[in-house]
Amino acid sequence: MCGIVGYLGKGYAQAPLIDGLRRLEYRGYDSAGVAFHEGNEFSLARETGRVKNLADSVQKNSSSSSLGIAHTRWATHGAVTVSNTHPHMSQDGKFVMVHNGVIENYGILKKFLVSKGIKFSSETDSEVLCNLIAYHYSELPTGEDRFIDAVRLALPQSRGAYGIVILCVDYSDTMIGARRGSPLVVGLGEEANFIASDASAFVGRAKEAVFLNDGELSIISGKNFRITTMEGEEAKAVAHPVEQISEEVELGDFDSYMEKEIFEQPTALENTLRGRFGDDGTTAKLGGLEGHEDELRNLDRIIFVACGTARHACMVGEYLIERLARVPVEVEHASEFRYRNSPKAGKSLVIAVSQSGETLDTLEAVREAKTKGLLTLGITNVVGSSLARETDGGVYQRVGPEIGVASTKAFSSQACLCAMLGLALGRMRDLSPTDGQAIVQALNDLPDLVTKVLQQGEQIRELAIKYSKAEHLLFLGRQSLYPVALEGALKLKEISYAHAEGYPAAELKHGPIALINPDCPSVFIVEGSSLSSKTIANMQEVKARKGPVLAIAPDNVEIPEEAVDDIFRLPVVHEVIRPILANLPLQLFAYHFARLRGLDVDKPRNLAKSVTVE
Ligand code: M6R
Repeated sequence: MCGIVGYLGKGYAQAPLIDGLRRLEYRGYDSAGVAFHEGNEFSLARETGRVKNLADSVQKNSSSSSLGIAHTRWATHGAVTVSNTHPHMSQDGKFVMVHNGVIENYGILKKFLVSKGIKFSSETDSEVLCNLIAYHYSELPTGEDRFIDAVRLALPQSRGAYGIVILCVDYSDTMIGARRGSPLVVGLGEEANFIASDASAFVGRAKEAVFLNDGELSIISGKNFRITTMEGEEAKAVAHPVEQISEEVELGDFDSYMEKEIFEQPTALENTLRGRFGDDGTTAKLGGLEGHEDELRNLDRIIFVACGTARHACMVGEYLIERLARVPVEVEHASEFRYRNSPKAGKSLVIAVSQSGETLDTLEAVREAKTKGLLTLGITNVVGSSLARETDGGVYQRVGPEIGVASTKAFSSQACLCAMLGLALGRMRDLSPTDGQAIVQALNDLPDLVTKVLQQGEQIRELAIKYSKAEHLLFLGRQSLYPVALEGALKLKEISYAHAEGYPAAELKHGPIALINPDCPSVFIVEGSSLSSKTIANMQEVKARKGPVLAIAPDNVEIPEEAVDDIFRLPVVHEVIRPILANLPLQLFAYHFARLRGLDVDKPRNLAKSVTVE
């Protein structure tokens, strides 16, 4: 979602700020802007559309300021217009501010400010917060702490979520950041310091990153920096090295991050699996769960909370964990769990799954679970993310940064970790060592099998060419392949804008079959179990109504010619890894389908990588 970069350093701020915005483009946005401190005023440049438009406009009027803030906006309050684009300037010209998140009570605050004679030039909640800070500033006596005091007075008055970076014209070497609910990270370099919404904004320019916690402020003054609480007490700053992520965010020889991330999956999965099996080779050993063994052994229920693709991975987990560990599992949309008064039945464990670890709906679900006194675990890819910090324990995915908005390698590693969790919980209960050993073997074989499937990418490209004219598609699967059908449909619609729906295969006849016609292809993901004959019967129902059928099926499942138009074959594998392998051709199908339509797969319209608003 929206991206923030602030720069204070020895050199000119312009290049690092624009470069930082480019690195944040993957988060999704619809306009971009930058403000520079120019001595006794601010200069502002804002453009709708791509960062490139902003870069071109800034190039014409270069700034030699060494203090500035920049932003990519994903519209929430107000249309995509220049006046709604950040940075926002207070009416008196004293402050410029960039904001991620939503100020829920901005209406009341705005009324108050209007009553004080303040006029607004945008429809945004952010401009209200900027003016509220300016208002408090105008009421405070002159003094060294006036800027920070104004921020500290205004923020507790706002409800909702924010990550802000703000500059005051009277302070030519100070930049203040504050966080509640929306991530902020300070980048510490030799030549400059940064405050950004994501460390990738300052990769290559800062050596260390310090993540802010909710309720903290970061104050960068000249070369110094400190973190305080809202009340002004010094807070602990834990620095993480940033060099390690620099290479991983480069595109290399690939045309898009999505393609790169699809083909990275063998290595990504190797990293997810590495060192995570017990010495006897019959169970998984997940470090982040250590210390919780007794609670895990005595669980009555698991509730997964997640959104989008991460929720589909949890649904794979639901089937696998119930089968391996015999623990009842529920999967909730995180946004629903938060407001639902789910009864606290027995000993429940809440597992939140989020690639970014910053999805607000998922974080709020975790907070709700904690309020109810439930044990919470997190599965996330981002080290130091809010999810990692707020849960009682958890597991990192270790797949490296996922930049493409369409989640690919993260799904595979999340589904893999769910299988490992099922194995670990199963072995704590009644799964036999022999079954455990077979699962360990299957998981260890996974990276090579993924390579093998991805090597058949050309066949998928040809299938995408054949079906790419379709505007409506159905994806159908049973059991642990049902979430794969959902994921295949989500991937296709989010990047190609074709309408796609996923269903359990047997649901077809309860309604969706009405859609079947020669222009509506059905993609069946066929399991290699006794159920496959039932799925083949569903395929025949589609064919009988002249619907085109594409099957993704294991090598050993015979499919009569009259039931199918095209088949993509998968290796015959253990059920725990079947969903991960079956999802690969669907990732590639969506990728080629969208590319054939000339679309930018990394920046699909209206979407953001990390959704930090409700
Ligand atoms: O960062 P998260 O895993 O919490 O993100 C959750 C969803 O927003 C995300 O998976 C979204 O559905 C992707 N665009 C799907 O490709």
